[in-house]
Amino acid sequence: MNFSVLTIFPEMVDPFLGYGIIRRAIEQKKISVSSVNIRDFAKGRHRVTDDKPYGGGCGMVMKPEPLSAAITHTQKNTPDSHTILLTPQGRPFTQDLAHDLSTLPGLILVCGRYEGTDERICHSLIDSEISIGDYVLTGGELAAMVIVDAVTRLIPGILGGEDSAEKESFENGLLEHAHFTRPQMFEGDEVPEVLLSGNHKEIDLWRLESSLMRTLLKRPELLEEKPLSRQEKEILKKWGRQIETLIHV
Ligand code: ADE
Repeated sequence: MNFSVLTIFPEMVDPFLGYGIIRRAIEQKKISVSSVNIRDFAKGRHRVTDDKPYGGGCGMVMKPEPLSAAITHTQKNTPDSHTILLTPQGRPFTQDLAHDLSTLPGLILVCGRYEGTDERICHSLIDSEISIGDYVLTGGELAAMVIVDAVTRLIPGILGGEDSAEKESFENGLLEHAHFTRPQMFEGDEVPEVLLSGNHKEIDLWRLESSLMRTLLKRPELLEEKPLSRQEKEILKKWGRQIETLIHV
């Protein structure tokens, strides 16, 4: 997978590439990440990339010409890539969308700055718009890195354990179960006994219950969207009965 990050601050991208799984993925040539400086495509002595908005108002708008030249140049170099504009008005970025993007040969991530991007860029050169959340950042760079990170770890062969990506939060509509490691006792708090039992059926059941409980308590809206298995329904009914008893004593 080839990522191209189009930005007026390419220095922001490089430090992010030097650590952990992303660094390893680059070393193993599973991904490549190149930053393209939009300013290099701006004309004139001052290489200006922004201008005042037509119609007045505060803030500046990204000029179309340098952005268009930078995107066209990058699209020519990586013709199969999908071009994404990072903007708070885009489609919400989710684990499902990360999966879809991880199957593509390349992503061109266009980072907006200032108040916005000239609308004509979106009409002609952008395949999709993505937002990483309902808040406004000062630019799309952090959003681009979030996408590089979340997509990279889904590319086959990137994560260590065969199934580490399948069993984690959001992959089956639930948050992931609780985790424990040594020591067995930490500040008076003990690891659940079943996890030491070696009984994998019991451990799987405990993990499913832990997943369901965390989702119910922390992100109950996820359960409304998820088709529940018979086993999951049984667990929830059992808790329902236990809660009923508590209420009526
Ligand atoms: N640029 C500014 N805010 C953003 C957001 N929430 N998501 C993606 N790009 C952005």
